[in-house]
Amino acid sequence: MSSANTGFGGPWTEEKLAILKKYLDAYTTALKNQPFRLIYIDAFAGTGEVELTSADEEKKEFIEGSAKIAVDVDSKPFDEYIFVEKDQDRFVQLNSLKEAYENKNIQIENEDANDFLQNLQKDWRRYRGVLFLDPFATEVEWATIEKIASFEALDTWILFPTSAIARMLPRKREPDIISPEWANRLDRIYGDESWRELYSINPQISLFGDEEQQRQEGIDGLIRIYKNKLIQLFGDRFLEESRALKNSKNSALFEFLFCVGNPNGIGLAMDIAEHILKDL
Ligand SMILES: C[S@@+](CC[C@H](N)C(=O)[O-])C[C@H]1O[C@@H](n2cnc3c(N)ncnc32)[C@H](O)[C@@H]1O
Repeated sequence: MSSANTGFGGPWTEEKLAILKKYLDAYTTALKNQPFRLIYIDAFAGTGEVELTSADEEKKEFIEGSAKIAVDVDSKPFDEYIFVEKDQDRFVQLNSLKEAYENKNIQIENEDANDFLQNLQKDWRRYRGVLFLDPFATEVEWATIEKIASFEALDTWILFPTSAIARMLPRKREPDIISPEWANRLDRIYGDESWRELYSINPQISLFGDEEQQRQEGIDGLIRIYKNKLIQLFGDRFLEESRALKNSKNSALFEFLFCVGNPNGIGLAMDIAEHILKDL
């Protein structure tokens, strides 16, 4: 997978995958003796390997991607794996991963992640699992998050695309100047027009009768609105603590967020996730 095209493969990629791996190890160990089928769903699965960014084009270096990390979990393997990948070429590579692990129960889907998850049906009372939402940018829709919350079975790690969203939101313009296409995308990410709260009338400018709506600098506001929506939806199942994933210039690319699946598993899942976010 080319990092030049995809913009991933830097140290923050390793950080994200290290957090996922730790969670999967701890999660499967903790649920080892529970009477549930354990499922891992990777909705933006990639290929099973990630090419690291390197200044030297000749020297390619790869690390294990999320799908490979999940099938290699050794404390207790998941009973089922579902890998969703929209890109045809990457899907073909995923198929090779499936063939290499023929003793594991792996389902692969060449589909849009939102469509797949919104139509996913299982007897969730029998399942517990982990869902990883690792898009390139703004692909995850709020309707998908609502659906996942309703399963009450999947602990979910979400990469919220702060930098991509910030680029869609001009600093000093009225929100209505945002193109209808971008406004529509923002509505689909947030599930409503709550992102427009970011803009307020600048009182200094309005003193002179010239009202201009202005967005607060930075990304804190756009993360806060999304977190508030997650709190409304998941309640106690949402972990306030999160991790900013930053590039080498210290700019935030994504906010890594965590929600618990089953209300009965809140304490344990939160403890594990919080511990990992603090220590790693
Ligand atoms: C950041 S990469 C995932 C990397 C992967 N988690 C790993 O660690 O190897 C995002 C992947 O999502 C795929 N993708 C993009 N849009 C998608 C969509 N709407 N549905 C499913 N897959 C999508 C891309 O082709 C890409 O392989």
